[in-house]
Amino acid sequence: MESIRTLRIMQETSKRSLHQGKSIGFVPTMGAIHRGHLSLVKRAKGETDIVVVSIFVNPIQFGKNEDFDKYPRDLDGDIGKLREEGVDIILMPEAKTMYPQGFSTSILMGGLSERLCGAYRPGHFTGVATVVCKLFNIVKPARAYFGQKDFQQTVIIRRMAEDLNMDLELVVCPTIREGDGLAMSSRNAYLDTAERKAAAVIYKSLLSASEMMKGGAAGPEEAKRHLNEALKAEPLIAEIQYAGAYDPQTLEELSAFKKQNLLALAVKIGSTRLIDNVLVEKK
Ligand code: PAF
Repeated sequence: MESIRTLRIMQETSKRSLHQGKSIGFVPTMGAIHRGHLSLVKRAKGETDIVVVSIFVNPIQFGKNEDFDKYPRDLDGDIGKLREEGVDIILMPEAKTMYPQGFSTSILMGGLSERLCGAYRPGHFTGVATVVCKLFNIVKPARAYFGQKDFQQTVIIRRMAEDLNMDLELVVCPTIREGDGLAMSSRNAYLDTAERKAAAVIYKSLLSASEMMKGGAAGPEEAKRHLNEALKAEPLIAEIQYAGAYDPQTLEELSAFKKQNLLALAVKIGSTRLIDNVLVEKK
């Protein structure tokens, strides 16, 4: 496994691989590698010739009062896990090379980036889209792999790739969950024992709302009410930022179910913000 820190070297390495007719699979991460990331790596290994994983805690996607400084970092642990999974290249750039003095370009997306999480994290998706665009240009993947847990992120990156004619395929992989259903996330590490136990309500509430929907008993309003009631019943949920039924393409709140529906939520348990979602097909 090769570790690359210099953007120019990554670009040259990718160019060489492309000239040799090899396809590149790319898994962008902020490190704190868990089974969710490893599932993306496994998929990439099955579908492409060379797998590149980036580890970069991207400062421009964190708000002023967010957790950039305390975001979990475990570079040695990450390198071990990725080596074991058979990753070919880890790209670990430094912030000063990603955003050198004078850096002044951003990918701004109206609408999609302002809804759901965007309403609570202004500027977050501009930071995500900008760094992902840069990483795509550096790594030159044929396929890039993202988890469904960050559903809004996948919608925004797909929009960006289409709008800017990026020649790559986006692969969205299923959310990997703990035994009690909690979606794997690097931020789960912030939860204390009681909070971790309480966090199981997140997926449980999504599952029961989706069962109601599938059974035909609920419209979007009822699904929203059900989700909010289930979440409020857990005393350690400190805040419900949003919870309801949304259009998976536009991320707008639904007034009537469609064939494909997104149940999504963002809550705070203590000071830890967690998100999750399920896609529900209506027959
Ligand atoms: O999902 C993440 O970990 C980040 O948002 C990403 C895509 C690596 C961009 O920094």
